[in-house]
Amino acid sequence: MARILITSAIPYINGIKHLGNLVGSQLPADLFARYARARGHEVMFICATDEHGTPAELAAAKAGVPVEKYCAEMHAVQAELARGFRLSFDHFGRSSSQRNHRLTQHFAGKLAENGFIEERLEKQVYSIDDQRFLPDRYIEGTCPNCGYDRARGDQCENCTKQLDPTDLINPRSAISGSTRLEVRETKHLYLRQRALRDRIEAWIDSKTDWPVLTTSIAKKWLNDGDGLQDRGITRDLHWGVPVMKGDRPWPGMEGKVFYVWFDAPIEYIAATAEWADAHGRPDADWERWWRTDKGAHDVTYYQFMGKDNVPFHTLSFPATILGSGEPWKMVDYLKSFNYLNYDGGQFSTSQGRGVFMDQALSILPADYWRWWLLSHAPESSDSEFTWENFQASVNKDLADVLGNFVSRVTKFARAKFGETVPGGGDFGPLETALVADLGARVRDYAALMDALEVRKAAAELRAIWVAGNEYLQAAAPWAVVKQDPARAAAIIRLSLNLIRLYAVLSEPFIPDAAATMLAALGSDDRSWPEDAGAALRAIPPGQAFSVPENLFRKITDEERADWQTRFAGLRS
Ligand code: 2FM
Ligand code: ZN
Repeated sequence: MARILITSAIPYINGIKHLGNLVGSQLPADLFARYARARGHEVMFICATDEHGTPAELAAAKAGVPVEKYCAEMHAVQAELARGFRLSFDHFGRSSSQRNHRLTQHFAGKLAENGFIEERLEKQVYSIDDQRFLPDRYIEGTCPNCGYDRARGDQCENCTKQLDPTDLINPRSAISGSTRLEVRETKHLYLRQRALRDRIEAWIDSKTDWPVLTTSIAKKWLNDGDGLQDRGITRDLHWGVPVMKGDRPWPGMEGKVFYVWFDAPIEYIAATAEWADAHGRPDADWERWWRTDKGAHDVTYYQFMGKDNVPFHTLSFPATILGSGEPWKMVDYLKSFNYLNYDGGQFSTSQGRGVFMDQALSILPADYWRWWLLSHAPESSDSEFTWENFQASVNKDLADVLGNFVSRVTKFARAKFGETVPGGGDFGPLETALVADLGARVRDYAALMDALEVRKAAAELRAIWVAGNEYLQAAAPWAVVKQDPARAAAIIRLSLNLIRLYAVLSEPFIPDAAATMLAALGSDDRSWPEDAGAALRAIPPGQAFSVPENLFRKITDEERADWQTRFAGLRS
């Protein structure tokens, strides 16, 4: 049994996330957490809302409520949607927590102590019409690197380059569109990332098993001439973690807060402390996940995120940790994702384009979305959601292949043998072949899950479902039962056991259906099928079962057309 720490990139508090956000971090992280638990590991699965920064302030202002209240409400909304999608976080924290305030201030203090913080008089963009300093992402302009004309001042979402607002060509205020911008002087703290460059590089180089997408982005910004610039980690804003040196004031920094990207990843740690607090546990209980001097030396840490988050997790956050000089656990495996597009364009939160988490659950249960999203996860390249593909995938994979197997087997068993698992009969060559095939496939499936090959794992799982259907077709109990009821009983007993095996293997992808399958078999045996032959005997003759409600229903052409139109426009 291993100890596995899993964090998902923490979603911004403003607004409900779309399916592209979901599949890029929280959902695959949940898949892996469920799988790791199923394999018997001790898992800590952490997420939170990312609550600081100007987007939250502006969204609160737009909603006409104080920002604290806005964040509390939106956190509750996001937590509810996470439950709706069956995201099995051990804790869903808040980056505005006192834990995160203290820990962020602690890291800043340590970094200062170790000489990695520099105070700089900085020139910052002030918007005369908006009457405020403009935070980086509220300045838009043309990317100096790739020429994209809607690059933001913190990062170009087209080429992922981290930017400073003053790098932008033809800058304008993203709040008002005003170009009456001027540069004013203000004091800020800089994290001296350059001084940590060699240590960061050595650390990245030690990660030889990372996915290409992750390493290529990390290397790109590390080696690109100005890739690892010193970064400003404070802002002229009200909402955020007040700038302090540990628990002492920071002269000259009064009224300023830390930059949201400085405190957000620290929230992974703070949220684990929030988990301990919420369960009345001592600090030692969260520290054993995060402090290598306090038990975390044997933890394996996985992070999940979209590709735009990679530079912050491979360069900036490691710089914070390495610079602290303290023995914090650093990520072992960083799984990143490309983008999911929506029906010929991009998902967009700011433009309200695509399907959002609340809308998705209003039309179909979580498993339908989880299956499609995970089996089409944008791993090796961007992928695209289309309603046709969604319909085809749900109707084929879930309804025809898995759902139909479960319903055929349980209905036939009830009709011929009553509602208990039938005994008697012998296994023959068909069963021997099936056990061999499943044994190999389950090992492949586990290896793909271990390697976080999400799409390939989904394909293998589907192949395992197909193998059961093919077996049933070949064994043909409905024909056999007429001459040899005992043989038919053996086939059905094995098939009922297959349903349990499917429940256990499928649970990370479709947890509700898995629970329904297990309940129908009256089983709570979730043990992993290390040995396929033994697993197919787990449920003994005589055990009562029931015929479950249809596991999955088909999406009709009318529904598909209706949803396509309903979600074609922009969400208001
Ligand atoms: O891209 C985002 O949605 C960010 N809120 C992710 C932050 S991840 C981390 F650093 F905490
Ligand atoms: Zn660019």
